[in-house]
Amino acid sequence: MKKAAHSQRPPQAWRRDIRSVLISRARLARRVQSLARQIESDFSGRDLVIVALLNGTVMFLADLLRLLSLPLRLDFIGVSSYREGTGPGGLIITKELRLDVRGRDVLLVDDILDTGRTLARVLAKLRALQPRRVKICVLLDKPARRLEDLAADYVGFTIPDEFVVGYGLDYGEKYRNLPFVGLLHPKITRRG
Ligand code: XMP
Repeated sequence: MKKAAHSQRPPQAWRRDIRSVLISRARLARRVQSLARQIESDFSGRDLVIVALLNGTVMFLADLLRLLSLPLRLDFIGVSSYREGTGPGGLIITKELRLDVRGRDVLLVDDILDTGRTLARVLAKLRALQPRRVKICVLLDKPARRLEDLAADYVGFTIPDEFVVGYGLDYGEKYRNLPFVGLLHPKITRRG
């Protein structure tokens, strides 16, 4: 498992909003490649369904998928978090799974495993559909904030307890298009 460490300055265009690059484009590419190799060897010959959570997985998923040389099906679950009191566990499902996963191998892909609430809820939903097995793959793992007894089977990078954006991850729906994972300037989060 790779640890992410603060390092580079962000490209000029992003310096007003992004304080530093936590994981560069090159490191992301290398790590996604090695995750793909691991997944390929673990699921070779299986009836694989990849279930990705919307919207934060968009870049990670696209990069991972094109490196997987094995037959697979792809579907999405939409999850949105709300403030306490607006839904069970603060989450609502915005898109339901459509593919049949019964008896199949499922790889559940998410952008970041933080408290674990999102994946615990989705995992319970998936298991009720009786797949043969479910493995979890996340780009980022922030173990410091975990509230659920949950671990991912494939982790891109373990990161410190800081809010990250980029490579699919957002703040207020912005920054998903950054080609790297970065840390926001505190003045951005204060502005709200
Ligand atoms: P939980 O706490 O349920 O969180 O494991 C998973 C979801 O919360 C979002 N999240 C973040 N999004 N930067 C983000 O852009 C972060 O540092 C961060 N931490 C949690 C994310 O949507 C994830 O799927």
